[in-house]
Amino acid sequence: MPNLSEVISFCTRKGFINQSSEIYGGLSGCYDYGPNGAQLKRRIENIWWNENVENQENIIGFDSSILMRNEVWQASGHVSGFHDPMVDCKSCKSRYREDQIDINQNCPDCGEKNWTDIRQFNLMLSTKIGAMEDSAKQVYLRPETAQGIFVNAINVARNSRMNAPFGIAQIGKSFRNEITPRNFLFRVREFTQMEIEFFCHPDDAPDFFEEWCSRRMSFYTESLGMDSAKLHFRDHGKEELAHYAASCRDVEYDFPFGLKELEGIANRGSFDLEQHMKHSKKNLTLSDPQKGKFVPSVIESSAGVDRTLLAVICDSLDVSDPNHIILKINPKLANIQVAILPLVKKDGMPEKAIEIKDRLHSSYRKKIEISGSIGKRYYREDEIGTPICITVDGDTNNDDSVTVRYRDTGKQDRIKIDSLNELLEKVFK
Ligand code: GAP
Repeated sequence: MPNLSEVISFCTRKGFINQSSEIYGGLSGCYDYGPNGAQLKRRIENIWWNENVENQENIIGFDSSILMRNEVWQASGHVSGFHDPMVDCKSCKSRYREDQIDINQNCPDCGEKNWTDIRQFNLMLSTKIGAMEDSAKQVYLRPETAQGIFVNAINVARNSRMNAPFGIAQIGKSFRNEITPRNFLFRVREFTQMEIEFFCHPDDAPDFFEEWCSRRMSFYTESLGMDSAKLHFRDHGKEELAHYAASCRDVEYDFPFGLKELEGIANRGSFDLEQHMKHSKKNLTLSDPQKGKFVPSVIESSAGVDRTLLAVICDSLDVSDPNHIILKINPKLANIQVAILPLVKKDGMPEKAIEIKDRLHSSYRKKIEISGSIGKRYYREDEIGTPICITVDGDTNNDDSVTVRYRDTGKQDRIKIDSLNELLEKVFK
């Protein structure tokens, strides 16, 4: 596996990710996605959305606003309880999360032992809405997409004629004023979450919790094609459980900096809806012909797109030969899926390449690449993860065939143009 510096340098060099506001020195904990990164991010989101919304009759998609009334965050417990413990070094002014360092030791930055008291730091970012500065109202930028679902859930269910069990899924930006953003995309201040809140009768919650755990693991192993040996479940112990959760299980990935959380799956019970009922005085119950009136329990799957993308790159980046780096990514996730490389510029080659490109199925992202030697072109495509290169050469016009080259093995096959779509179907199945 590559180390983190190799991953960061690759992502920056190949147009995947760079620091936000880079030309002004960068903004800590915020990143921009370049052409290859934006496409990878979108493909991960689309696979998740297709799997969980398009192909599920009892899960509906949702898109709530980032700014909500402060009562939402009071009811959810974020105003009073969404804190991390923080300490500062009085000598060099470095700031740390107290649970990530040992304050019995000296400061890792300046080597002195001169700590402030531990203070609780609220992680929510805020802004102001309203035209006049003096009457402007302070509001929070959501630290999770989940609350936007909870406050709408019962209305959405009624309008969509859904009854439990049903789910609401959302992909969107969340913001946290992390004390120490670190490990590249792993802990950032602005990130995208993919969350599903699945509402069911409390009696059914333990079974749905188990079902969601296995569905979510197979998202990483089957749908994204990640290495199952690097993915693990970790159950939260009693002392670690959030106050609202009956059970919580993380999906962890073996990152270059250690085994870390990729996603949390939780049985949140009826905590969230009970809180919003209490604070809003609205009726957030469901009724069922057999089971009567009840406040549904919630099984939550909460995954970070940025963390997933980082894990996918760590999982597939082969740096064993520094002169020939290969991104062995799942073909479905590649930005360019088929590169068509005409070997010679003369003899109507580019025209033939265009003709072949037009005959390939429209669902693949394709490009024609003419610059550089064929070897260099193969290596360039390998590096950004293009799974298939099709080389059009001097014989193509005579035998109606092309050379197909496979990214991960470098193996080449001579294939009839007529058979290309069938071959691609197998590669991208
Ligand atoms: N609604 C529940 C919730 O938000 P969480 O464990 O705080 O739970 C869920 O966050 C997921 O969101 C994490 O597993 C991670 O993938 C992502 N995430 C959370 N904080 C993040 C951060 N600062 N940077 C990147 N991703 C983050």
